[in-house]
Amino acid sequence: MRTVTTIADVRALARRWRQAGERIVFVPTMGNLHAGHVSLIEAARAHGERFVASIFVNPMQFGPNEDFAHYPRTPERDEQMLRAAGCDLMFMPDVAEMYPNGSQRATRVEVPGLSGILCGEFRPGHFAGVTTVVAKLLHIVEPDAAVFGEKDYQQLTLIRRMVRELCMPIEIIAAPTVRDADGLAMSSRNQYLTPEERARAPAIHRTLQAAALRLRAGECDYPGIERTGIEALERAGLQPDYFAVRRAEDLGAAQPDTRHLVVLTAARLGKARLIDNLQVSR
Ligand code: PAJ
Repeated sequence: MRTVTTIADVRALARRWRQAGERIVFVPTMGNLHAGHVSLIEAARAHGERFVASIFVNPMQFGPNEDFAHYPRTPERDEQMLRAAGCDLMFMPDVAEMYPNGSQRATRVEVPGLSGILCGEFRPGHFAGVTTVVAKLLHIVEPDAAVFGEKDYQQLTLIRRMVRELCMPIEIIAAPTVRDADGLAMSSRNQYLTPEERARAPAIHRTLQAAALRLRAGECDYPGIERTGIEALERAGLQPDYFAVRRAEDLGAAQPDTRHLVVLTAARLGKARLIDNLQVSR
């Protein structure tokens, strides 16, 4: 595996692979890798011959009171994990390489509407930061396909729409959420939890499962299911931002006859803000 820090080096290597007729699959991350990230590299294998991962804690997607400065950075360990997973290239740019004029003044890519709901309502500017950095990374790597986790369902939905609307010839592959044994979705932010908070955190997955059960049984009282979810999370000692039943395709309002649904939630627990979701087809 090669590790490079410049856009020019990524382009030179990717060009060589493309000229040899090899399909390139790309996995963007913010590093501090765990089994969830590694599963994306494994999912990538089925879609090409060369695997590129990026590690970049993107300042543009963090709000002024968020954890950019404290976000865990473990580059040596990440490098070992990517090498072991069979990655060919790790791209680890610094902020100046990605935003030579600073991230505040940089050109932006925004998906209107979708970027302002759910997590977007509680993290203003966050999704414009995500779509901007992902658009840049896709232009740098020019992959045939890119893999994103269902764990960040709204992010995945936004990226699919951005790629479609900007006519990027890139296949977007979704990979299922990897969880700890007790159901908690793996996340770098789980490290912010105290042992006591960590013991309470599986309430998120349990509450989503309870909602999914009601939906699978055919219930259509979505506001009722949402209220029950909020109350269950509060009883478990979490502070939910939202608990929402939506149309899986585009996160629009669920109708009684909507077949593919997704239940999404975000809740604060101590220093962490945790998100998770479950899809339901019926
Ligand atoms: P990050 O949180 O590092 O996640 C990188 C990728 O790993 C995302 O596609 C995310 O959905 C996926 N992922 C995280 N935890 C997962 C889990 N438990 N199971 C499966 N997949 C998981 O998401 C970002 O970084 C950034 O917003 C990024 C897209 C890199 C843009 O900066």
